[in-house]
Amino acid sequence: MLTESYSVNERGHLTLGGADTVELAERFGTPLYVFDENDIRANCREFKDALEKYYSGGSLVYYASKAFSCKEMYRLAKSEGLGVDVVSGGELYTAMSVGFPADKICFHGNNKTADELSFALDSKVGRIVVDNIYELETLNSLAEDKGVKADILLRIKPGIDCHTHDYIKTGQIDCKFGFALENGEAAEAVRLALGYDRINLVGIHCHIGSQIFETQPFIDAADIMVGFAKEVLNSTGITLTEINFGGGYGIKYTAEDKPVSKSESMRILAQSVEAACEKHGFPLPKILIEPGRSILGASSLTLYKIGVIKEIKGVRTYVSVDGGMSDNPRYALYQAEYEAVVANKADKPRDFEVTIAGKCCESGDLIQENTKIQSAEVGDTLAVLATGAYNYSMASNYNRSPRPAAVMVKDGEARVIIERETYEDIIKKDI
Ligand code: LLP
Repeated sequence: MLTESYSVNERGHLTLGGADTVELAERFGTPLYVFDENDIRANCREFKDALEKYYSGGSLVYYASKAFSCKEMYRLAKSEGLGVDVVSGGELYTAMSVGFPADKICFHGNNKTADELSFALDSKVGRIVVDNIYELETLNSLAEDKGVKADILLRIKPGIDCHTHDYIKTGQIDCKFGFALENGEAAEAVRLALGYDRINLVGIHCHIGSQIFETQPFIDAADIMVGFAKEVLNSTGITLTEINFGGGYGIKYTAEDKPVSKSESMRILAQSVEAACEKHGFPLPKILIEPGRSILGASSLTLYKIGVIKEIKGVRTYVSVDGGMSDNPRYALYQAEYEAVVANKADKPRDFEVTIAGKCCESGDLIQENTKIQSAEVGDTLAVLATGAYNYSMASNYNRSPRPAAVMVKDGEARVIIERETYEDIIKKDI
């Protein structure tokens, strides 16, 4: 199986975290998102423990909650001692609703509204990552009105172009996020930030992209960010004490994917920051990271019921499921690759080449093209693996499809963490 989370039991059924997925589909209905709690917790610990082991300058792991935001994930991150990265008033509200410690919340966004900034200040979030000059001014005046000071990091584009899908690259100059280094924007932002009474500039942030397998872009980021911090020290006398390197660590969606382990990624990051500090003559900053996908993406799956199977002779066979781009838009958006398994025939060979289609009224509503699954029939349960990140969080009500439920499995026992939407929910806001 793709990772150790998935297995096949004596009934020939696919299991996740010890739970029989065919039983889960029967009990909770489909489509259904399923998460393996032990695996998610192990991922949190692997990042945290490795940074503590390999780096002496202090660290904090923020879970990037855009990957999957719901109350239970904030509770889980809290209980593992992680911080969280939120990127909207809605994510912040969800985190605060379960009493997430505000000082461990880092607030992001390229176009935060004044209301969101005000909410962040009122909630006393620990760090606000400021993206642009307009935000700096707005934040300063809001903080002044409230009689508080905002602890901020500046979002920097380090000029790194990593090998991932164009839509999820964020480190290069032509990108909507942050201040560029090469044209002096970042240095100017530092100068301005230091001039505001209500702004406390603590550090700098970068996020170079997502689903990255190479290690070199992270090594380069360490050198560039520490180099910039040293320039700031030289030109202003201010020592930035925190550098946030964002997330982006790739996961295994298919057997071909070969991600670097989390602890190895942390060892490399820690070493690169130490080496950069020595090279530039800069004191070790606290390292912050924001993994999202790698916390839970591969500790999960989505279950569907197979409906119509349409063989178009000489063309292809469409296997349609009872969900689609409304619960997983990633193939439509990024041609993302996934592996799928007929959960009730998981011990059989995957030798049936199909295109998995959803039920939305759109030909591009595909989960995967030309992929191999077990020989399938109407009524079988299909599991699409590694769907934990950016599926529920990007789901929609397209065609007025109710969003699926989500269950968390722990030691074989499942509990609902997000209820399935009803038709009633769908019309709730209609007047
Ligand atoms: N920090 C910042 C500032 C980010 O923008 C992101 C992701 C992360 C951390 C977490 O990155 P991760 O560790 O999950 O790669 N919807 C796309 C991914 C968009 C990523 C957006 N930012 C997808 O489905 O692949």
